[in-house]
Amino acid sequence: MKFRRIGSSELFVSTVGYGAWEIGGKGWKAGTEDESVEIVKKAFDNGITFFDTAPIYGMGRSERIVGKALKKVRDRVVIATKVGVVWDDAGKVRRCLKKNSILQEIDDSLRRLQTDYIDLYQIHWPDEDTPAHETAEALQMILQSKKARYIGVSNYSVEQMKELSRYVPIVSLQPPYSMLDRGIEKEILPYIREKGMSIIPYSPLAKGLLTGKISGDYELGPGDARGLDKNFTDRDRFLRNIERVEKLKKIANELQISLSQLAIKWLLHKPEVCSVIAGTTNEKHLKDNIGAADWELSEKTYEKITAIVSDEELFE
Ligand SMILES: NC(=O)c1ccc[n+]([C@@H]2O[C@H](COP(=O)([O-])OP(=O)(O)OC[C@H]3O[C@@H](n4cnc5c(N)ncnc54)[C@H](OP(=O)(O)O)[C@@H]3O)[C@@H](O)[C@H]2O)c1
Repeated sequence: MKFRRIGSSELFVSTVGYGAWEIGGKGWKAGTEDESVEIVKKAFDNGITFFDTAPIYGMGRSERIVGKALKKVRDRVVIATKVGVVWDDAGKVRRCLKKNSILQEIDDSLRRLQTDYIDLYQIHWPDEDTPAHETAEALQMILQSKKARYIGVSNYSVEQMKELSRYVPIVSLQPPYSMLDRGIEKEILPYIREKGMSIIPYSPLAKGLLTGKISGDYELGPGDARGLDKNFTDRDRFLRNIERVEKLKKIANELQISLSQLAIKWLLHKPEVCSVIAGTTNEKHLKDNIGAADWELSEKTYEKITAIVSDEELFE
């Protein structure tokens, strides 16, 4: 396993991390709670030290599982969770970055994760109804009380990062980023580079498309986590993606690696990417993903892959 630093922080993370949305269960086929605890433990046993979760993943389930699995190795792992997406008793979900809500959320996350500090506390989604200085005040209080070590953001634009960083330091951005979603490369990536921050790409395997396991006849079922993703919902784009995947598979075969490994290595080719947090509920897939950390793509292969995924629609 290799390690990279998150931005200017003192956090060093495994270049292959673990995304814990899937084990939250909602929108995905996850196993039992015990099976999910086992897969998180296996991730650690096989070299992963970076775990990304969120309160909303299974409405507390994912954080509880991560906490249970990593309790005994807490000082050897980096735990990232999120703030700003809340739910009520009826299960209605909304964004909220108000000061009091954040101060409540951090305590709930610490309890579920069975820890007294979060390494990386990330704003999950922007909340247009709350001024950045109010959100930042709560985050500063959290930093001062050592309930979190560093602050990151997710799904933020350059403008939103500029505004928030007037009040609180931000070390990372977690945006959607993969060979099939290159939207951040135009404006966001240059900003991240300039500020010395890190990227933690989410949906690095394009929710399974970049594993080769999804075929052209895939149908979105009710409640499917892929149901809000343009790579699936835009039928024409979806079919073009399947064609792209066929071409990418050929390169993976030539290199004698899996397509998932190719997708992870392609992301890690960018020095701004600190860790690739593919999500999985399956031990075989987990080990496959970890195998991607072994060596890096040559510049020539990187260019060959990139040429296949350079259509304008992938930058939208
Ligand atoms: N900040 C945000 O707003 C946000 C949004 C989305 C995701 N995320 C984070 O990013 C993480 C990953 O993104 P994602 O969940 O959207 O999807 P992803 O990692 O791109 O893809 C996950 C899918 O790929 C499959 N998979 C994983 N490795 C595989 C392998 N080696 N071979 C075959 N199939 C494989 C998984 O199924 P199996 O379980 O069968 O392996 C699952 O269906 C999440 O867990 C979460 O932590 C954050």
